[in-house]
Amino acid sequence: MKHIMTENYEEMSRKVAEMVIGRIREQGNLVLGLPTGNTPIGFYQELVKDYKLNYTSYQHARSINIDEYIGMSGDDPKSYRYYMNHHLFMHINMKKENIHIPNGLAVDVEGECFCYDQVFEEIGPMDVLILGIGHNGHIGFNEPGTSFQSTTHKVELTEETRQMNARHFKSLDRVPEAAITMGLKSMMDSKEIFLMVTGDGKTEAYTQFLNGRVTEDFPASILHSHPNLTVIVDQSTINTPDNR
Ligand code: F6R
Repeated sequence: MKHIMTENYEEMSRKVAEMVIGRIREQGNLVLGLPTGNTPIGFYQELVKDYKLNYTSYQHARSINIDEYIGMSGDDPKSYRYYMNHHLFMHINMKKENIHIPNGLAVDVEGECFCYDQVFEEIGPMDVLILGIGHNGHIGFNEPGTSFQSTTHKVELTEETRQMNARHFKSLDRVPEAAITMGLKSMMDSKEIFLMVTGDGKTEAYTQFLNGRVTEDFPASILHSHPNLTVIVDQSTINTPDNR
């Protein structure tokens, strides 16, 4: 495991963007695993900035997003598809057919999960997966207790995660109760993983991650067994109070 400490959010975002841009330049048809949330917004801004300045091309790149709320259309500003379009895809030249995000409106959720797993079969494991971490150690929407062998599946969101995500909704009762997420096994199949740690109140999660005990009670701990993991930490938010 490599560890990079950065002074602040901007530096963290820039460092991760530099590494990912380097990989794209080396391998045009890179398969990227992408997260949403507050953590990667600066990273996406850096990718967009670089695209405009240096024309790094995504023409042959593929992306697989890690999660989506159930019951939400991609046109809904709270959906992760909308978020991705807004922060990244509308600004770069990745082809629509190369973008994969679970369909939150699928009537047959099991079928949707099965089809999503087929994407890994079709385009291979991810080359680079970028992750944020939740206060309870979740990665994607893999909540504590999720099997390390999990593939794409439906998740009932914990009260804690719903309360955390309520900041993006008008009220808690509007936060969806379920989501589709990439599983932990599929994440671990990625050839390389970048874990970004930032956000008020993440100190406990970070400390627990560092203690290294690998347990399904703390999903991010599985990453310790990955052979090519880089953890990039925004030091300015470590030891800050939890302002949720
Ligand atoms: C989002 C995701 C989540 C977030 C995590 C941290 O696609 O997979 O696991 O990475 O909840 O959220 P933020 O970045 O908002 O602190």
